[in-house]
Amino acid sequence: MAKQLASKVAIVTGASRGIGRAISVALAQEAATVVLAARSIRKLQETADQVTKAGGKAQIVVTELTEEESIKNLVKVTNEKFSRLDILVNNAGVTHSANLEETTTEDWERCMQVNARAPFILCREALGLLRKSQAGYIINIASVVGVKGYPLQSAYTSSKHALRGMTISLAEELRDSNIRVHLLCPGGVDTELVQKVRPDIKRDELMQPEEIAELVLYLITHKGNAVIDELHIRRATSTPWF
Ligand SMILES: NC(=O)c1ccc[n+]([C@@H]2O[C@H](COP(=O)([O-])OP(=O)(O)OC[C@H]3O[C@@H](n4cnc5c(N)ncnc54)[C@H](OP(=O)(O)O)[C@@H]3O)[C@@H](O)[C@H]2O)c1
Repeated sequence: MAKQLASKVAIVTGASRGIGRAISVALAQEAATVVLAARSIRKLQETADQVTKAGGKAQIVVTELTEEESIKNLVKVTNEKFSRLDILVNNAGVTHSANLEETTTEDWERCMQVNARAPFILCREALGLLRKSQAGYIINIASVVGVKGYPLQSAYTSSKHALRGMTISLAEELRDSNIRVHLLCPGGVDTELVQKVRPDIKRDELMQPEEIAELVLYLITHKGNAVIDELHIRRATSTPWF
């Protein structure tokens, strides 16, 4: 059977490890070309190897998401190499764990820069290319903290609420266009990030990055008129129906 994403080009931020790597490999399994963005060239190369092995093509673009010029360069390289973009996955994220009194302005700004400002700039810069796609997708990875409040996570939570606000506004703006905008709000996933902020959660109770990647693939390959705007994904052991 023909692969579903053959000839499609995707940008995935935070592709050097964790959920971003799993999404990149899942897209590659359907033969996508994946532009891999993050800072660590060594880890990006590992992802690129996995993408190629899975049946996709990989293009590494080392990107510092706190710098506007670096984000613009990511889109520029994508355009120069492939002249198209079909899927944008804003996945990269940073977290910070401290009570509000001990959260510095720099801690706050770093969360806002990577988790909210960078997806905003990337959406804006990529829209021109996405509009040329027959079916464009923007997938923004927020978090359960994008819809709930958590102690010790005011900076991270604020940035994910901001990302959600931007995403649902953009979805309205693009309603009559060829671009579908989705938001994913996962709970705990077994990555470096969660080990830092929630070492209390038992690893065998965490979701796997591949489970999140499977859902991204579903959103992109699902055909028809039914649209899922926002997915809330919880661990089987956590509280349902918040
Ligand atoms: N793990 C969870 O439980 C969980 C739950 C809900 C939502 N999420 C969200 O899912 C996304 C992926 O998280 P993860 O768990 O896979 O985290 P992770 O393993 O820590 O990976 C984070 C990724 O973001 C990249 N990144 C961080 N700062 C960057 C910067 N300044 N410039 C460019 N890239 C940067 C990192 O690459 P480099 O270090 O190489 O730059 C890395 O690829 C995040 O948005 C996170 O908030 C995670």
